[in-house]
Amino acid sequence: MLLEILEAEAPMTFARYMELCLYHERYGYYARGPRLGREGDYFTSPTVHRVFGATLARQLLELYELLGRPQEFLLVEAGAGEGWLARDILDYLQKKGLEWPYLIVEPLPNLRALQEEVLRPHGSKVRWVRDFTEIPPFTGVFLSNELFDSLPVHLLEKTSEDLREVYVEVSQGKIREKLLEISRPEILQRVLPYALHWPEGYRTEVCLAYEPIYKELSKKLIRGALLNLDYGFPRADYYHPERHRGTLLAYSRHRVSENPYLRPGHQDLTAHVDFTALRELGEKYGFLNLGFVQQGPFLVGLAVEEVLLEISENTFRDREALKLLVLPEGLGHSHWVLIQARGLHPETELSGLRLANRLNLLY
Ligand SMILES: C[S@@+](CC[C@H](N)C(=O)[O-])C[C@H]1O[C@@H](n2cnc3c(N)ncnc32)[C@H](O)[C@@H]1O
Repeated sequence: MLLEILEAEAPMTFARYMELCLYHERYGYYARGPRLGREGDYFTSPTVHRVFGATLARQLLELYELLGRPQEFLLVEAGAGEGWLARDILDYLQKKGLEWPYLIVEPLPNLRALQEEVLRPHGSKVRWVRDFTEIPPFTGVFLSNELFDSLPVHLLEKTSEDLREVYVEVSQGKIREKLLEISRPEILQRVLPYALHWPEGYRTEVCLAYEPIYKELSKKLIRGALLNLDYGFPRADYYHPERHRGTLLAYSRHRVSENPYLRPGHQDLTAHVDFTALRELGEKYGFLNLGFVQQGPFLVGLAVEEVLLEISENTFRDREALKLLVLPEGLGHSHWVLIQARGLHPETELSGLRLANRLNLLY
């Protein structure tokens, strides 16, 4: 069915193709009910162990203190998946005697239903809105885990003559690529200095969907912080000449493929995050960059091992999960944390950034 919808709209940019494959309201991957967690198509930090959310909650508590314990403090999350992260944060806060309201931005009704189920024990503390425009002005923290990597990307290829954009054509049920002119000038601006060093045939991605999110958040966050966690790179690494196949990947049942055209709507499509773009957007929209650090040192800086002892039996499985979250061969190096703030002193040193600061690991 999705193929017919694609055929009716083709030719389209790869970004539009990816948007339909992931978010078509009926046949998109996320609307059809993504399979998350260890049994699913891929796993994420919150599905590894609840110590991840609990440790993040520690960082939220510190931000709350630094902001002078505001009377009203709201946590806002987007891309909340099945709601595990929200649950683990709220459980930890409850242990500490705190009952902050939690707002989830969730456009998809099926995911909202899953989240409602998981978060039922937290009752009316948790509320939902369908998109960023519906968030009320707030003091608090916006957070996301693996939101930005699931946004549609434009695909570029360097030919012997120039840079071209990948378009998708669908005819009689067959999908083909076509290289055409770049659809928007911002795409070129993002890669221009790097593209000169790329070899012929180099492929990469540019995501323009980050900006509407930052723009909206800039209208909503009065005082507080943005905490975005994801896999990605600073831009110079992202567009390094050696990364000639880009970062676009398709996931299905833990199998990774580089072919985004297999079974449209049935596999997850992702691209790594250009964190430099998020930093620049922060600056453009009036957020202060507090730090950018890999997940490993971030969690260790927040004493993740202490949190583990606090909330678990410290079994072999618990410790294995901790290793997966922290060590470089797990998610500790591939995943990053970008913290941007408004209304905090530029010299503010957060616990999550302290270790990285000392070891000179802050980017
Ligand atoms: C990879 S999943 C996140 C998984 C989850 N955070 C976790 O850590 O397990 C990405 C999610 O982002 C959501 N998403 C994408 N664009 C969004 C938007 N504009 N607003 C809210 N959610 C969005 C998708 O629906 C999807 O559920």
